[in-house]
Amino acid sequence: MSNPFTIHLVTWHDGEPLLRAIREAVFMREQGVTAELEWDGLDETCHHALALSATGDAIGCGRITPDGHIGRMAVLPEWRGKKVGSAILEALLDYARNQHQTRVEISAQVQALPFYQKFGFEAEGKVFQDAGMPHRKMSLHLLPRDIQ
Ligand SMILES: CC(C)(COP(=O)(O)OP(=O)(O)OC[C@H]1O[C@@H](n2cnc3c(N)ncnc32)[C@H](O)[C@@H]1OP(=O)(O)O)[C@@H](O)C(=O)NCCC(=O)NCCS
Repeated sequence: MSNPFTIHLVTWHDGEPLLRAIREAVFMREQGVTAELEWDGLDETCHHALALSATGDAIGCGRITPDGHIGRMAVLPEWRGKKVGSAILEALLDYARNQHQTRVEISAQVQALPFYQKFGFEAEGKVFQDAGMPHRKMSLHLLPRDIQ
């Protein structure tokens, strides 16, 4: 069977309409995040991972800032539980390793902590509120590619 989805690293310039559509569906309509908070002005500085279905539909995304902060991880509801989120996160971690970053961080929604823990992320500090939802800071130390 051919792969049901593919992951592509894109700039905001190249991926904006598709990235916007996923984040509007997941963060704004599903989770109630305001436009002001969602569009924080960092997207143009980030690298983005975009998941496309075999028919070319945008089904998930995530981003990493130049200083190694992963965020905006979103998979459309009908595609969840099929490893799309895992593949997006792996692509962003690969990108960070290729940039010789040794540590990445995420401000994770508390409900999603188990997802990130599967990749070795460790939670630190207290729970805090962001966009009306409880979050916790998490971090992961990356091994250089050549000793993995
Ligand atoms: C979080 C999210 C990106 C995960 O994407 P996904 O494609 O469903 O994840 P995967 O299928 O790759 O899941 C990998 C594993 O993590 C687990 N997992 C995924 N999301 C989870 C969650 N919210 N809570 C607990 N476990 C979760 C899966 O059950 C799976 O476990 P397994 O390896 O034992 O089978 C997706 O659920 C989503 O978009 N949620 C809404 C937006 C959101 O919460 N984003 C995160 C903000 S920090």
